[in-house]
Order: sequence, then C-alpha cells, then structure tokens
Amino acid sequence: MSLYTECLSLTTGPLSLSPFPFFSFLMKGYLLRVIIIRVNLLGMSKILIVYHSQGGNNKKMALAVAQGVSSIDGAEAILKPAFEATLDDLLSCKGIAIGSPEYFGYMAGAIKDFFDRTYEKARDDKRAFRKPYVVFVNAGNDGSGALLSIERICLGYRLKKVFDPIVAKGEITEDILARCREMGQTIAAGCVSGIY
Ligand SMILES: Cc1cc2nc3c(=O)[nH]c(=O)nc-3n(C[C@H](O)[C@H](O)[C@H](O)COP(=O)(O)O)c2cc1C
Repeated sequence: MSLYTECLSLTTGPLSLSPFPFFSFLMKGYLLRVIIIRVNLLGMSKILIVYHSQGGNNKKMALAVAQGVSSIDGAEAILKPAFEATLDDLLSCKGIAIGSPEYFGYMAGAIKDFFDRTYEKARDDKRAFRKPYVVFVNAGNDGSGALLSIERICLGYRLKKVFDPIVAKGEITEDILARCREMGQTIAAGCVSGIY
C-alpha cells in the first residue's frame, strides 16, 4: 500500500462515521490536499547503487540491492556501473550503496575512479554530509582489502554507514542475494522515513 492510499484510507475511515457529514466532507478534502502536497514536496528518495563487475557476481548483488530498494514505497533505485556514475548522481541521491570486487587486495579501479572524480566537489558540499551508505563486496577469496579501502574513503566523504557490509566469496548464493535485498530495503526505508 502506498503512502497515498494509506493516508486516503485514514481519511475515509473514522471521519466517515462523523455525526457532522458536512464537516466530515470538508475535512476529507483538506487532509487529501495536505497529503498530496506533502508527497509532491518530498518526492522519491533516490538510492544510488554504484558498482563494478566483470564476471557478473557484483552485478547480481547490485541488482538484488536495487530490488530491495524498489520494494520500499517512496524509494527509487538508481543503478550505475561506476564508470558511468557522476557527481550529480552522488549529490542528488538520499543514500548510496557501493559494490566492488577485490582486485589486488584493493577496491576495483572503477570504484576508485568514481571516488577520484567526485571527491573534491563532494566533500565540501552539504548535500553529501553524513549521507547514509552501505557496501557490498564479492571477491575470489578474501575481500577485506576492498572493504577497508572503500570504508576509509567513505570516512573522507563523511558518509555514515547504516548496514553491516556484505562480503561474499565466489559464487552468489540465494542467501547472499537475500541479504543484499535486505540491505537495499534498510537503507531505502531509513531514507524515506528520514531516520538517518
Ligand atoms: C585483476 C584481478 C585481481 C583480483 N584480485 C583479487 C584479490 O586480490 N583478492 C581476491 O579475493 N580476489 C581477487 N580477484 C578475484 C575477484 O575479486 C573475483 O573474481 C570477483 O568475484 C569478481 O567479481 P565480478 O564477478 O563482479 O567481476 C581478482 C580478479 C581480478 C580480475
């Protein structure tokens, strides 16, 4: 049920039992207008999912995170391969999910490139300050080097971690995908409700 229909049922519920039908009619119209204006002002909460993948594992995880985001009313998943993600994507989103393989004990060059292109302008922009973020990594056998390097850079951006990182090794299982969906739902629900 969307926020709109939820509120609509509120206004048509108890008020319809009012002993003053004319007053009830006016109140319904007033509440509906307030709700519509609020929904328009708030808009959709965009969650940017920036990822890199050559073999497809991180892409599967990114898609599952996007699924989780899209399952939340009022949230929109913006799925971008890292080389295509821009400063504007970063500044206009409410939250960001970063997904990377581990390459040579570090994050993928594509993710580092995204950070390199956006850091100078983003770090002093109040729209980036304490923005919620989450990380997922798929690696051949470890993944900790990629995770640590991403987390260190996110500190520089003054982003706020809101979900335990997911580090998966090799083949993607249904369990990993379920955790990725939960990750997407969590950051999206927090952004929509404004709790971060
Ligand atoms: C150039 C290169 C370097 C890699 N270095 C590491 C590494 O240091 N540690 C590790 O655990 N896996 C390493 N791997 C394996 C990848 O992290 C792993 O295959 C991962 O699943 C790739 O994700 P993808 O399927 O999304 O491309 C490396 C792979 C490549 C291509």
